[in-house]
Amino acid sequence: MILPKACIFDLDGVIVDTVPAHYIAWKSIADELNIPFTEQDNEQLKGVSRVDSMKRILAIGNLEKSDEEIEALTTRKNDRYVEIISKMTPADILPGVREFLHVLAKAGLKVALGSSSKNAPTILKAVGLSDLFQVKVDGNHISHSKPHPEVFLLGADRLGLHPSECVVFEDAISGVQAAKRGGFPCVGVGLPELLHEADLVVPDLKDADLTIFKRLPSFA
Ligand code: G6P
Ligand code: MG
Repeated sequence: MILPKACIFDLDGVIVDTVPAHYIAWKSIADELNIPFTEQDNEQLKGVSRVDSMKRILAIGNLEKSDEEIEALTTRKNDRYVEIISKMTPADILPGVREFLHVLAKAGLKVALGSSSKNAPTILKAVGLSDLFQVKVDGNHISHSKPHPEVFLLGADRLGLHPSECVVFEDAISGVQAAKRGGFPCVGVGLPELLHEADLVVPDLKDADLTIFKRLPSFA
């Protein structure tokens, strides 16, 4: 079997289910501003940085805010988000993820993180997965948010590998686009109708093992 040399995982929605927490925190800010904000709108914010997410919400409400106001709003959103995620424990790891990470390590594949979140180090620590990642790239290290490929390209670079030697796991439309723009084979985790740009879409990582790579054109 031909295997990739590494896997690069998104965090939110792939390793831990923080999507509802982001939604609750954004929704409270949108409500204060009288902006209608739905779970479908939230879907479009997956993978998008905090500031860019705020700008997209303001655009829904046709509102304009100064940089200082945006800073204050995103700080409030993050305070609410951090309050929710501060209660996270290893029980919040999505089904199959821990087992899959161990399967990859045993097979000699490197494992990296490629997340837009500045809270990634806190979350990985809270769920006890920090040590399983050889390389961690998160929102604190990048200047362009997904769908720009920077986060994954930096990850591949730190792994010392070419994008074609790595597989990206992503639940966000913008994340799949980032992976493909960077030249990475990509497994979408979620709904095929949303993630159709991925090379393969699986509903979750439950029971995931090395046979997943055979289903990718570049490793078949
Ligand atoms: C991830 C999430 C987004 C979030 C972004 C920034 O990509 O999918 O919903 O906006 O990270 O997260 P942060 O924790 O830095 O606000
Ligand atoms: Mg995600």
